[in-house]
Amino acid sequence: MKLTGKIVLVTGGTDGIGAQLIRQLRSKGAHVLTSGRNPLRIAATRADGFEVIEADISSQAGIDSLITQLNGRVVDILINNAGLMDEYDLERGSPEPQQIEQVLFVNMHAPIQLITALLPVFQERQEAAIVNVTSGNAVAPRAKSPVYSATKAGIRSFTQALRFQLAGSNIQVIEALPPGVETAMNKNSKRKTMSAKECARQIVVGIERNQDEINVGQVKLLQFANSISPALARWIMLRY
Ligand SMILES: NC(=O)c1ccc[n+]([C@@H]2O[C@H](COP(=O)([O-])OP(=O)(O)OC[C@H]3O[C@@H](n4cnc5c(N)ncnc54)[C@H](OP(=O)(O)O)[C@@H]3O)[C@@H](O)[C@H]2O)c1
Repeated sequence: MKLTGKIVLVTGGTDGIGAQLIRQLRSKGAHVLTSGRNPLRIAATRADGFEVIEADISSQAGIDSLITQLNGRVVDILINNAGLMDEYDLERGSPEPQQIEQVLFVNMHAPIQLITALLPVFQERQEAAIVNVTSGNAVAPRAKSPVYSATKAGIRSFTQALRFQLAGSNIQVIEALPPGVETAMNKNSKRKTMSAKECARQIVVGIERNQDEINVGQVKLLQFANSISPALARWIMLRY
C-alpha cells in the first residue's frame, strides 16, 4: 500500500514504537494523527507538529472519549499500537481487579472498539488498512505477564477472524508482531532487544508490501520454531 497522502491514526504515538511510527509515516508523506495520555509527552509530540488526541484508554469512558474526539474524521489506516504490559508473580499475590481491567481495556477493548467504530469510514475509502500491533507473546506467552500475553493472543485471534471476514474487500487487515524492543515497556525484560526505530521501520515496510503478518526481528525465528513445535516456542518464550 502506498502511504503518500494516506490519513493514518496511530494510537500511543507519544512514546516508544509509536513515536517512531508516526515520524517514519510522516516522512513517507502520510498525514498522521495520534493519541496518548501523558500530558508532557503529548505536549512534546504536538511541539513536533503532530495532532494528538488526549485520551486514557484504560477505561470504557476513555475509549468513548477517543472515539468521540475522532468526530467522524476520515482515516485510511488505523494502527492499534498503544499497549500496556503488566508483570505478576502470582505466588506472591494476585493483581487487583482494576489492574487486570486496565490491561484488558488498553490492549483489547480499545483496538476492537476503534475498529468497529471506524469500519464504516474504511468502507468508503478506496483502500484502507487496519494494523494491530500484537507481540511475540501472541504466539507464545511470557510467564511473568500472563494477562498481557492473553490480550495479545486474543487480538491475534481477532485479527485473523477479521481478515477472514474482510477478505476481498478494500480493507487489508494486518498484524505486526514485535520482539523485545528498547522502550519503557520493556525496561525490566531480559530479552535481547531491538531499537524502536528499527521495529517501526520493519512495520512500515510491511505495510508498504501489503504483508498480512509482519513478523519483526526475532519473531520470525519464534514463528519458525512454533511451526515445527509449539512446545518449543513456548519453552523459548517462557524463559523470559
Ligand atoms: N516494547 C516491547 O518490547 C514490545 C514487544 C512486543 C510488542 N510490543 C507492543 O508494541 C506496542 C507499543 O509498545 P511500546 O513498547 O512502544 O510501549 P511504550 O513505550 O510503553 O509506549 C506505549 C504508548 O501507548 C500509550 N498508552 C499506554 N497506555 C495508555 C492508556 N491507558 N491510554 C492511552 N495511551 C496509552 C502511551 O502513551 P503515554 O506515553 O501517554 O502513556 C505510549 O504512547 C504495544 O502494543 C506493545 O504491546 C512492545
